[in-house]
Order: sequence, then C-alpha cells, then structure tokens
Amino acid sequence: MVRAWHMNEVTEDQRKPHMTDPPQFVTLDQLKDLGVLYFGISSDPAKAEEQVTKLRKDRGYTYQDEVICSREKLPNYDETLKTFFTEHLHSDEEIRYVTEGSGYLDVRDKNDKWIRIEVVPNVFIILPAGIYHRFTLDEKNYIKAHRYFVGEPVWTAHNRPADDMEIRKEYIRNHPNAG
Ligand code: LAC
Ligand code: NI
Repeated sequence: MVRAWHMNEVTEDQRKPHMTDPPQFVTLDQLKDLGVLYFGISSDPAKAEEQVTKLRKDRGYTYQDEVICSREKLPNYDETLKTFFTEHLHSDEEIRYVTEGSGYLDVRDKNDKWIRIEVVPNVFIILPAGIYHRFTLDEKNYIKAHRYFVGEPVWTAHNRPADDMEIRKEYIRNHPNAG
C-alpha cells in the first residue's frame, strides 16, 4: 500500500519524511482527485509481470527503461538531487514502477500545498501531465525504478511557473478539484 501525507515546510534535509505532528495522511481517492493513479503490484514476480504487462497494454506504454538513482550511479549526485527537487511539470505522464529502494514524490494539492507520496517496491504510480511535482531520494539514497512512456520519451522538466503552458491549463480543466 502506498502512503501519502501532507508535508511540513522543508527547512532542513529534503530526504526526511517531513510529516506533520500528528501525521495527516492522504487517501487514494484524494490522490485520484489530483489525477494521481496508484497500482499495487504483486511481490510475486510472475504475477507482477502479468500485472505490468496488462497496465502497459491498457495504457499504451510502448517505451520502458530502468533507472537507478544512487550516489554511485548519478554523476553530480547532490546537484542532480537538487534538480529533481525543483518544482516542475511535464507535457506527459510521469510513470514509475519501483522495484528496489525508496524515495518521495511530492505533488501539489488543490490548495497548492505539498503532498508527499512514499514510493517503495511494488508501487506503480502515474502522475498526470501538467501536475506540479518534485522528487527526492530518502535517507537510504537508493532507488531502482522502471519508467514507461507512450511513444518516444520526453523527459523535459518545465520549472514552475509554467502556468501558461497548454498542458497546465488542460490539467486544471480536467481536475477541477486540483490547481
Ligand atoms: C522526474 C522526476 C524528478 O521528472 O520528477 O524524473
Ligand atoms: Ni518530473
């Protein structure tokens, strides 16, 4: 099961959970209102393969690769981590299936506050095109994830403000409970 919560302001290490006290968890329905989709994938490899194959087929994901983020694998680790954590959007969905390690995907809620989504193995998550978000590793500094895409991948990040982009306007139109 994926966990998500409303965050405290990040005044120190972005890799910490930054939960409020007491924690305010966010439900899957609340995520869905923002257009964020979660699928729980089985830890049984055969079953997982079946589920992921079906998801790829249903959603038309023709591209797939695997990325590892760690101090060893990423050149300029600290700098790259800062780039990932800069609020941005994409013109397409951001699709991740975590197989090892963990991290946090933060998305803006309807009040423009941050929601932190804990991404751990067996989490398959889809961020809609046009949602403002950011990513960070946690204190374990390691994550391995599959990325998917419809057609040729475009990873371009448009940093906020990107409110004039058509994809942002479309996101707002399609998610009246968001933005
Ligand atoms: C990405 C994460 C950093 O765009 O949001 O890959
Ligand atoms: Ni992104």
